[in-house]
Amino acid sequence: MKKRYRLILVAGARPNFMKIAPLMRAFEAHPAIDAVLVHTGQHYDEKMSELFFRELDIPEPDVNLDVGSASHAVQTARIMERFEGVCLDMKPDMVMVVGDVNSTAACTLVASKLDIETAHYEAGLRSNDRSMPEEINRVVTDAVCDYFFTTSRDASENLIREGKPAERIFLVGNLMIDTLLRFRGGLEDVDVRLEGLGAAGRAVDFSEVYRPGGFGVATFHRPSNVDKRSDLERLIHILSGVSREIPVIFPVHPRTYSNIEKYGLMKEVDDAPDLLLANPVGYLEFIKLVDSSKFVMTDSGGIQEETTVLGIPCLTVRENTERPITIWEGSNKLITIDEIKYEVGEILKGNGKKGRAPHLWDGKTAGRIVKAIEKIIN
Ligand code: UD1
Ligand code: UDP
Repeated sequence: MKKRYRLILVAGARPNFMKIAPLMRAFEAHPAIDAVLVHTGQHYDEKMSELFFRELDIPEPDVNLDVGSASHAVQTARIMERFEGVCLDMKPDMVMVVGDVNSTAACTLVASKLDIETAHYEAGLRSNDRSMPEEINRVVTDAVCDYFFTTSRDASENLIREGKPAERIFLVGNLMIDTLLRFRGGLEDVDVRLEGLGAAGRAVDFSEVYRPGGFGVATFHRPSNVDKRSDLERLIHILSGVSREIPVIFPVHPRTYSNIEKYGLMKEVDDAPDLLLANPVGYLEFIKLVDSSKFVMTDSGGIQEETTVLGIPCLTVRENTERPITIWEGSNKLITIDEIKYEVGEILKGNGKKGRAPHLWDGKTAGRIVKAIEKIIN
């Protein structure tokens, strides 16, 4: 039977891949939806992109726009220019985007100007902080999008408040948790080899060195924490202090790594034997690290959600979050850089947050999205 409804699914950056994996599986099994996968190439390092395709069984992209890194305007413009050609060529019935990265906003703008129906998974999340590039991407995407798939009730309510029609908003749950629950059971066999950075440059076999609950995990990549020398310097100094209480494993995002080098901060890392900076790790390795850690310190969006479901205390070093449900119901807490040490002390005393999985974060979100699309088609 010929698949009659053509849908382009867009992904571009690391946090998109966990979201598209369950969707691609669901679309591939569907008799009527012909899903075309477009990778914008916003992230391109093997450890920021291809590794996730392999680990999460995502089919190779049908098209790679190969846009690479650039300023916001140049990267967005490149995506738009190249994606327009793809849309004209493929004539999709719908373009679906996920998350809040530049690829999300750029492709939505292109499709809506070509009068192609658009759908946004993770719609309605708002930090109300326009100094975050992601917030601009969220607002722009939802302003022109036709259909909205949300992860939580507060996101649906934000959209209603912004005047979106209720019948176009579908509360579907969390795709990241589909992926988490799919792989969580099989982590025992996953070998975590950490490629240490800095003078030691050592490879560390995780399970030989660390014991469950005996370390913390850190990830930081927001411009507000890592772009300014003074912030990054303070952050590294404080993480080095924490590592004297409990070892810290910090898989480093490329943006953060290049700033650590630029500001000459590797010396302080080298002087802290229990602060391990390492190359970014694959999804299975990262989830294994988090699941067996005592706590996480982060500014990531997705990790606030994963720790909530895993019940691992999460210290989010940000002034706000677009994912407040992870604070209301989950294990997340917003703190400043200067509060890290105190908060870690509280966790080590046994006062870390636990929490529970929010409504519909149950591993069945991709199925609900397919059902919603069937409703849209018919
Ligand atoms: C992007 C997203 C951010 C998301 C993050 C997830 C935007 C505006 N930002 O931020 O929302 O949380 O991805 O990881 O879309 N680089 C590499 N290799 C790569 C990719 C990037 O070396 O594969 C380096 C480049 O020097 C680049 C820098 O990292 O300039 C930043 O990359 P970019 O995609 O612009 O932003 P992120 O900080 O990754
Ligand atoms: N992640 C990973 N390896 C790492 C760091 C993070 O696989 O070294 C995963 C993490 O489990 C989550 C996603 O990457 O699923 C989050 O991406 P990121 O923090 O880059 O982006 P954000 O969610 O902040 O937009």
